Amino acid sequence: MSTNITFHPGSVDAQERVGLLKQTGVTIWLTGLSASGKSTIACALEQHLLHLHKFTYRLDGDNVRLGLNKDLGFDEKSRVENIRRIGEVSKLFADSACIAVTAFISPYKADRQVARELHEKGGLGFIEVFVDAPLSVVEQRDPKGLYKAARAGTIKDFTGISAPYEAPDKPDIHIRTDECDVTMAVEVIIEYLTKHNYIL
Ligand code: PPS
Repeated sequence: MSTNITFHPGSVDAQERVGLLKQTGVTIWLTGLSASGKSTIACALEQHLLHLHKFTYRLDGDNVRLGLNKDLGFDEKSRVENIRRIGEVSKLFADSACIAVTAFISPYKADRQVARELHEKGGLGFIEVFVDAPLSVVEQRDPKGLYKAARAGTIKDFTGISAPYEAPDKPDIHIRTDECDVTMAVEVIIEYLTKHNYIL
């Protein structure tokens, strides 16, 4: 635990940064079951925003677990810590005026709420996107064979099978990936960003 720490403000405040860079930072937080389409949407959204010349960066569960969070597993305590760190990291990105796109299962409501409050306390936007597909559908997709392994008991604590997923009650955006394709999903998010003045 760190003690005797004092926050050191920069010479450029948040408002001035936004004015200079002509972009407002925000975190777009994708949550959903494994194989629900989070990473696919995140990649397409990042590509779309970059082509609009927006400063954006994607943080993806599998990728971040290969580096920063390689010490964490999938038990409840590890997932809480995983999401706590991602909440902090995405807040730093958003604070830098970046559009941070996160793609983590983030199965617990309370942890997503902590990430939201962290952003909102810092005056930063947080958009929760529920990437939703029924378990039967994601289990059929099973691109990495993980559901099969979880059913066979080879993988333990697997979300939706042997570990919980708490769906958002009131996500800012709700995308049914069994009913729409990735282009439509990106359009819905872009419309939201435009309507809420995150992009012009
Ligand atoms: S979490 O719950 O938010 O901490 O998970 P996350 O960091 O997003 O990592 C999810 C990816 O890890 C792989 N994987 C598992 N997922 C769920 N449960 C278990 N036990 C598990 N083991 C490995 C899996 O590839 C997840 O990626 P996605 O893209 O969600 O399918």
